[in-house]
Amino acid sequence: MMTAPIGVFDSGYGGLTVLKEIKHRLPEYDFIYLGDNARTPYGTRSFETVYEYTIECVKWLFLKGCPLIILACNTASAKALRTIQLKYLPGYNAQKRVLGVIRPTAEIIGNYSKTKKIGVLGTKGTVKSDSYPIEIKKFFPQAEIFQHACPMWVPLVENNEYDSEGADYFIQKDLNSLLNTDPGIDTVLLACTHYPLLLNKIKTYLPADYQVISQGKIVADSLADYLERHPEIKDKCSKTGQLQFYTTDSAPDFDQHSQIFFGTKVNSQHVDL
Ligand code: DGL
Repeated sequence: MMTAPIGVFDSGYGGLTVLKEIKHRLPEYDFIYLGDNARTPYGTRSFETVYEYTIECVKWLFLKGCPLIILACNTASAKALRTIQLKYLPGYNAQKRVLGVIRPTAEIIGNYSKTKKIGVLGTKGTVKSDSYPIEIKKFFPQAEIFQHACPMWVPLVENNEYDSEGADYFIQKDLNSLLNTDPGIDTVLLACTHYPLLLNKIKTYLPADYQVISQGKIVADSLADYLERHPEIKDKCSKTGQLQFYTTDSAPDFDQHSQIFFGTKVNSQHVDL
């Protein structure tokens, strides 16, 4: 049987925080990462635009042979995944799968909260889509979800300012806005792939007994479980432990900047979609 790598897609660098955990959990598998850096950010764009950009990237990864693609981007998962699964896949290739990061997180997030009052921080697009409240309530009907968009956080990370005083200002401001909505919130979900880089600062401005949840490990565990439950997909995934990186923008820039997200230096190639 023909085998090929699993595709991992993000609007830019953020999905590398997810790929890092997936690679750690499933080291034997091959992965192709595609970052649409030329058109990032997605978080401020319309539903139609995010869908158009995402479907182009998904098609490209399918042309590379990927039997399974992870949309390692909350904004793309919120705005494009359902339409891709409903409209695109049946006519294209029923044997291929596209999964997102919202459902695996929604399935588990309620377990972290004692009060069942959960704060969700994400891009404007993710918050506006209401995907998290809708999905979390499917698994935890009694949960109350308090969303807050943090539009400055992605630019802070993208511009290497995630450890600066400027970051402190916006993190404190946004966390205060979230916490002021309900004093019972005890769990905060970082529903954007960039936010794990701000984790230390975020913890500084939250009470010590708060749970602050990043998605990478949750998505990695969920993928491992999915592959076990779907041997027909698993058997199509190649397993030589290799990683390939592609970006729609400058490859040297990607190689340099990706280190802060992925931990180690990568060697990427440019792609024109
Ligand atoms: N990766 C995106 C997410 O997880 C954030 C970056 C963007 O706005 O494109 O929502």
